[in-house]
Amino acid sequence: MTPAPGLDRRTFVKGAAVATAALAVPLRGFDAAVAAAPASRGIFGYGVASGDPTGDAVVIWTRATPPPRPGEPVAIPGSGLGSPLNVVWQVSTDPAFENVIGEGNVHTHASSDHTVKVDVTGLAAYTAYWYRFKARGETSPVGRTQTAGDEPGTTHALRFALASCSNYTGGWFGAYREIARRDDLDFVLHVGDYIYEYGNGADRYGPPELIGVRDGQPATETIDLQGYRLRHALHKADEDLKAAHARHPWITIFDDHEVANNAWSDGAENHQVGEGDYLARRDQALQAYLEWMPFRVPDQSQPHQGTRFFRQFTYGDLGDLTILETRQNRSKQVDPPGGPSVTGFVPIGLDPRIDQALADPTRHLPEPEQLEWVKAAVATTGRQWHLLGNQVMVIPFRLPGAVLGAPGTTLVNADAWDGYGADQRAFLAHLAAQPAEAGDAVVLTGDIHSSWAADLPADPASTTTYTSAGVEFVTPSVTSDGFYELSASIVPAGTTPEQRVGLVGLVAGQIKSLNPWTKYLDGVGHGFVVIDVTPARVQADYFHTPTPTSAMPDPRVVRDVVPAYKRSMRTVAGSRQVTGTAGPVGPRSDHPAGA
Ligand SMILES: [Fe+2]
Repeated sequence: MTPAPGLDRRTFVKGAAVATAALAVPLRGFDAAVAAAPASRGIFGYGVASGDPTGDAVVIWTRATPPPRPGEPVAIPGSGLGSPLNVVWQVSTDPAFENVIGEGNVHTHASSDHTVKVDVTGLAAYTAYWYRFKARGETSPVGRTQTAGDEPGTTHALRFALASCSNYTGGWFGAYREIARRDDLDFVLHVGDYIYEYGNGADRYGPPELIGVRDGQPATETIDLQGYRLRHALHKADEDLKAAHARHPWITIFDDHEVANNAWSDGAENHQVGEGDYLARRDQALQAYLEWMPFRVPDQSQPHQGTRFFRQFTYGDLGDLTILETRQNRSKQVDPPGGPSVTGFVPIGLDPRIDQALADPTRHLPEPEQLEWVKAAVATTGRQWHLLGNQVMVIPFRLPGAVLGAPGTTLVNADAWDGYGADQRAFLAHLAAQPAEAGDAVVLTGDIHSSWAADLPADPASTTTYTSAGVEFVTPSVTSDGFYELSASIVPAGTTPEQRVGLVGLVAGQIKSLNPWTKYLDGVGHGFVVIDVTPARVQADYFHTPTPTSAMPDPRVVRDVVPAYKRSMRTVAGSRQVTGTAGPVGPRSDHPAGA
């Protein structure tokens, strides 16, 4: 059992020196009183978290705010202020800490924003543990975590929550509250948009009812290290998110909004002139991400470009979970005729230059080294399921242009795999070429703020008939605007919530007929998905907020609303297809030791 050897992010993230220099300038949009509130509740006001559980290790995390000495300012996240602090960590096999099996010391300081991360190793597989931190006479809340059921020759139950797109100003985190309440999950898989970069002004993202109730910190767009640190701290101070982190380990990967909307390797739709150098911004954003998330940076020795974030977890012979990272090295998105748009949708079949660019084999979503690594992962034999934690949808998704004000056209999302046609085609063909003994691929995706279950057509150019090469389950957003919210901009004033729900249902029907591999699509509910894996099948249980009505037009703004069970889909081993099924799943077939 050892603490992580010197978590020096300068090894991994270029531009840290730039970030440190930036601390000398006055803090932008910094409301010290609000920002300090969670920290003022004590040294451990941002809670505890754990992550990246393997069969014998898990990362534990906290933020330890040094108590200010008389006359000293509070070490607000991102401020670069505060004296170093010695923090003791403890791991126990029981919540009362009567059997502490590991402990140690970590020295934290302003250069890591007073965050603390320890990679606790030497643990037993498929076992529950409790952890806490101590400093200056204070003890943190107790976190529960567990290691992976990764024992050769033994098949354990595997069940986890899938989440994405948790816009703080978009609503209360009822999904996280419900996830925290569950005691049957191995971990939470968050596939991106854990934070959003927008400010509280004209760029505010979310329902107006929450202005003054759930405002972003900082108040302006996050563009530098102090801004991203404070935005992460704001999330870690949210009571529902804090509870979900304390209850389960998390496996996370960033998407675009952890940096800026529709990011690519050297820019982003939401990175403008006047916001500085994009790569410096990205490196500061990712530095804050690594400081504030219970993330284990993987071994950097395998082939990769930049920092390697893609990594894999294994679960005995049941399966593996491959985590893709598709922002750092992706080619620039193909722009619509009028230039970059927030949505990223472009017409197909209208402008040959757009069609050629979408299919250009020199443009990539994952860089070639990563795509080869993913292809090898799904070709591995000896495990039934190859689960892929992925950011943007793999399936072809053709949208009737009328939905976005372009009747008579068909649109695709240039920010998703559709926008990188050569990679999409190669990956789907590779899946289709795998023999039965390679098992089956299940892609787990977020990003599009709606719930989907679909077959993966072997040929993305398929129309009415297709061969299925695997399946994709897509989680709705925790809070970010979905199809229902977007519909407000295209309906006449006075349209009722019930009428808008009906309209979204009609559009979903059109999308399903244009994309016949889509077996389930809901554009209204927010929430999460529970993924339950057995040797025989993978089941996805969708949990949604209530359908809006005239009495409750936006459930996201109601503090006590949590998502409830809505629908189940599954794929049976060997079928490589998705079908509806009864649900939700019942008790686990077995539980980790100590749970
Ligand atoms: Fe999102």
